[in-house]
Amino acid sequence: FRGQGRGVWRYHAALPFDEGVSLPEGATPLHRAPRLRETVGVRSLRIKHEGMNPTGSFKDRGMTVGVRVAQKLGVGRLACASTGNTSAALAAYGARGGMQTLVLLPAGKVAAGKVAQAALHDARILEVDGNFDNCLDIVQDLAQRGEVYLLNSLNPFRLEGQKTIGLEILEEFREDNGRFPDRIVLPVGNAGNTSALYKAFRELVQSGALDPAEVPKLTGVQAAGSAPMVEAIEHGWPDTERWNEVETIATAIRIGNPVNAPKALPGIRGTGGTAVAVEDDAITEAQRDLAKEGIGVEPASAASVAGLKKLREKGVVGSEEDVVCLTTGHLLKDPDAAYEAGNKPEPVPNDPGAVLEHIGAQ
Ligand code: F0G
Repeated sequence: FRGQGRGVWRYHAALPFDEGVSLPEGATPLHRAPRLRETVGVRSLRIKHEGMNPTGSFKDRGMTVGVRVAQKLGVGRLACASTGNTSAALAAYGARGGMQTLVLLPAGKVAAGKVAQAALHDARILEVDGNFDNCLDIVQDLAQRGEVYLLNSLNPFRLEGQKTIGLEILEEFREDNGRFPDRIVLPVGNAGNTSALYKAFRELVQSGALDPAEVPKLTGVQAAGSAPMVEAIEHGWPDTERWNEVETIATAIRIGNPVNAPKALPGIRGTGGTAVAVEDDAITEAQRDLAKEGIGVEPASAASVAGLKKLREKGVVGSEEDVVCLTTGHLLKDPDAAYEAGNKPEPVPNDPGAVLEHIGAQ
């Protein structure tokens, strides 16, 4: 599917257009993480850091396509419900495309960096007294009334752009290793990425570029306090009633009713993958593990590594596997979580001798 464009648009043959409203997005790094690989105990480990996109998350890959569609349709107002990153990306791409944006956020549950982005890129921000799922219900209602053009991952054009995560991973991994990865581990909220990656792999198989036996196992990770997809993999279908109240430090994936479940569950099952839930303290520990490799991510992103560690400990992931973990958002998205997880600043007097003494130098 590869062509001459940049980033996402390099894969325009797999997309509905040849170019989009672009900042530009995609072409994110596939980091090695040697110490973490050693700790986890797998043959190889790569970190696909989607936090390196223009607004700091993978959402940009979907917006470059989705906002272009909106432009072609000539719609007046773009809107989304969001746990934060979608709103930041929509605000920036909407601004780039010269369109008004409206974002609905769960009050008090969105990380500071994300609200700051939406605000400065000139989105109108509505703080809803409810959770993400409530916000999505409202914005779908507005879209059905023709008031706004919906740019959540229910919009199929968003997922077309997000397919390029899978295309980049396969291409780059094979260039380095001469083979495709066995497994891709990713955080799951609304399950848009899981659906998009599965679609990308199916299209590659259908085009003859990928052998069905080489399709990576899609492995989803959720926070224990917000894990309807894990329950669905274990018991058949998400029980959304049970997940009315969700809570986790990984606010990006604080979602009880994953709207893309019908597309994502066949992806996890059809590739021989699985889904696992991780506790918040394991997420924070994984965030520190990644940071020690120089890779700064927000909590939801670190869930992928926490999930891999857990599945390796349980023996579900084997020691001979080649694994890619997807980290979906940048550290600076959630400065409060980073501050909590990291070293605290130490006050010292304004004096070299006192500073030397404080750091324990001889
Ligand atoms: N990681 C981050 C950093 C996210 O922001 C999201 C979703 C996910 C993972 C989950 O991805 O929905 O494709 O399974 N954030 C959305 C938002 C819901 O509004 O920003 P998914």
